[in-house]
Amino acid sequence: MITSFYMPTRIVSGSGALATIGMLARDLKMTRVLVVSDPVISAQGFHADALAALSGAGIAVARFDECGIDARCSHIDDQGERVRREGIDGVVCLGGGSVMCTGKGIAIVATNRKPMADCTGVGRFDRKALPMIMVPTTAGSGSEVSQWTIVKDEVRHLKLLGGGPLSFPDAAILDPVTLRSLPMHVAALPAVDALTHGVEAYLSGIASPLTDAVALAAVRLQAASLRASINSDDDRAREDNLVASCMANIACGNARLGHGHALSLPLEGHLDLPHPYGVGVLLPHVIAFNLAVLPAKVRPLAEALEVETAGLSRQEMIAACADAVRALYADIGFPTRFTPEQLPRDRVREMALRAVPGLYAGIAAKDFDPASAHDRTIIASPAARRMTVRQAEEIFERCVG
Ligand SMILES: [Fe+2]
Repeated sequence: MITSFYMPTRIVSGSGALATIGMLARDLKMTRVLVVSDPVISAQGFHADALAALSGAGIAVARFDECGIDARCSHIDDQGERVRREGIDGVVCLGGGSVMCTGKGIAIVATNRKPMADCTGVGRFDRKALPMIMVPTTAGSGSEVSQWTIVKDEVRHLKLLGGGPLSFPDAAILDPVTLRSLPMHVAALPAVDALTHGVEAYLSGIASPLTDAVALAAVRLQAASLRASINSDDDRAREDNLVASCMANIACGNARLGHGHALSLPLEGHLDLPHPYGVGVLLPHVIAFNLAVLPAKVRPLAEALEVETAGLSRQEMIAACADAVRALYADIGFPTRFTPEQLPRDRVREMALRAVPGLYAGIAAKDFDPASAHDRTIIASPAARRMTVRQAEEIFERCVG
C-alpha cells in the first residue's frame, strides 16, 4: 500500500508562545488580518494581548467575533466576501474547533471565490487559502494543524467536511494560557474529541508506521495528562494536552478518521448533537469493533491507554481498552451513552442509513437517498474493518441509555 505523510504547519508551543504571534504574522507577509473568534474568547485577556502583539508588529486588525457552536456556511461566505472587499491578506483564529473551522473556511472561500458548500469534499478547490495562524483555546479539535474544515450547511441540515493540501494552516501557536479560563465541563468535550482522533487514526485501514507512531504517542500523552488538565490547575498537564491533541490531528490528518466520525455526522447534522458527544460516546464501541481485525495493534493501544495488560488475553485487552476509555470519561464527567432525547430510538435506523456516505463525501452527500441503502450496505470509511448499516444500527442501539 502506498501512503504519504504531510504536515506543513509550523508549530510554536510552550508557555508564552502567544507573544510570537506578531512575528509569525510578519513572517507570513500578513499586513491586514481578520481575527476570528467568539464572544467568550474575545473577552479574555489573552485575546487582547494577541491583538496588541499584532498591532505592535504593524499589522492592521479587523475582527469577526460571532462564531457559535458550529462553523456556519453563512458566516464563512459573508466574511469571505468581506475579506476580499477590505483587502485582508491573512486570517488569525483564536478559539476552539468551530472558530478555527470558520476561519479556515473564510481563508478558502476568499481566494477561491465560490460558496463554502461548493468547496466541501476532498480537494474541491484550486487556489491556496489565505495564510492562516491558528491559536487553539481548547485542547481538542486539532484543527490548527488540519487541512480540513467541518462546516454546517444550515439550509440542508448537513455537516460537511472540506479541504485539501491547499488549506493547511501556516502556523499554530500552542500556549496553555489559552486554556486557563476554560470551565471543566467545557474542557472535557474537545479533549474527548482529540482522544477519538488519535485512536481512530490508529484504527485506520490506511495507517502507516509514521501515523501509528504519532497516534500512539498522542493517545499515551493524553491518557497521562487528560485528568489533571481538566480536574486541576496543572499548567504542565494543559500544555501536554494541547500538544497531544495537535499530534492526534497530525495522525488523523494523514491516516484519516473512522467510524466514530462517520456515524456521528448524521447525529450532528440532523439531531444537532455536538460533535464531541457523538464521536466520544461511539468511541469505545468503535475501538472494540475495529481492534477485532487488528490483532497486532491491540496490546500497543491498551498500553497507551494505561491498561495493565499482564495476564490478559487479546479479547480481554480489547474489552479493557473500551473500559479504560469509559473510566476516563467517568473521571472527567463525560457520558458513555446518548440520552433518548439526543438520539431517539425511533430514529436509530434512519441515522445508520444516513451515515452511509461517510465523513469525506462533502456536498455530494446531499444527493444520497437513505432509501437506497439496506442492512448490508457499507458505511464509507477508511477504518480497518468494514461496517454495515446493520452493524452501525446495533452500535447506535447500544449507545442509547
Ligand atoms: Fe473530531
